[in-house]
Amino acid sequence: MPEFYQYLSAAQEQELASIAQQIVQPGKGILAADESTGTIVCNDRKISDHISGVILYHETFFQKADDGQSFVNKLKNLGIVPGIKVDKGVVPLAGTDDECTTQGLDGLAERCAEYKKEGAGFAKWRCVLKIKSHGPSHQAMIENANVLARYASICQQNGLVPIVEPEVLPDGDHDLETARQVTEQVLSYTYKALMEHHVYLEGTLLKPNMVTAGQSCTKSYTAKDVAKATVTALQRTVPAAVPGVTFLSGGQSEEDASLNLSAINQFPGKKPWALTFSYGRALQSSVLKAWAGKKENISSAQVELLNRAEANGKAALGTYGGGVKSSAASDSNFVAQHAY
Ligand code: 13P
Repeated sequence: MPEFYQYLSAAQEQELASIAQQIVQPGKGILAADESTGTIVCNDRKISDHISGVILYHETFFQKADDGQSFVNKLKNLGIVPGIKVDKGVVPLAGTDDECTTQGLDGLAERCAEYKKEGAGFAKWRCVLKIKSHGPSHQAMIENANVLARYASICQQNGLVPIVEPEVLPDGDHDLETARQVTEQVLSYTYKALMEHHVYLEGTLLKPNMVTAGQSCTKSYTAKDVAKATVTALQRTVPAAVPGVTFLSGGQSEEDASLNLSAINQFPGKKPWALTFSYGRALQSSVLKAWAGKKENISSAQVELLNRAEANGKAALGTYGGGVKSSAASDSNFVAQHAY
């Protein structure tokens, strides 16, 4: 009989599963603030009606707000799970046509242990895949899947729920069908690697791109088309043991990201996971526009955050019909070859 080594105790598994469930409670999602300042996170308790987790980066994780309280404690007091970006950025993958991998495994276990001790409940690591005439390559897909699996396993051993993020970039003129096929391929590589590394799926979350046509595709598609392509890709590749899918916004406008998420939740068919948001740009562009780095604008910026959080909270329930007022709601957030 084959022998399997158990790397997590039952208590560790239970803790990871319960953090993941807390993050994907109905009508709630994640604010990915790992690119921007923590100042935008407000004190208003209403924020926690729609936001269950916030991703910080190393500096903000250890920073204090103006009132002297750490951001981490502020979030915990609001009932929000603090998260931390643990990768060290995207680097070129030699021998490929401008493809990449993500670095940061060295010392990761020690860093995760420290973040856990200081109050983090989950982590994020972003990998990037590119659609090209001959890509993504097998080399890029296998490398990125493997590094995500190693990261996930290290997080779990240290009590952090890994958010697994294999982002297929929207750069290009490919159609929706191509984006779906590539997303399916990338996700299938990812779950094969996670299984090979014995990652406890119930204690993970997936952060994929929605399936959308390339940024410069000339065909236009409806939110229903995006929903069908996205749910189909997930049904074919994401095990039912995964508790939730927290989409990145990937350069969509705030309003498109909300409408597409709502359509995804409305789409009929098998959806054994929570389907919610972990938005960076689509939760922050109105906020940052309103704030403009000025102290006197902080409260109006926080209202913008609440409005978008509420729209996305509804979208996660499939009940967002559009029209929430935001100062940058329909601005494109596309950044070519988005890397940070
Ligand atoms: P966007 O929603 O801006 O794509 O960012 C989410 C994120 O965390 C990307 O790593």
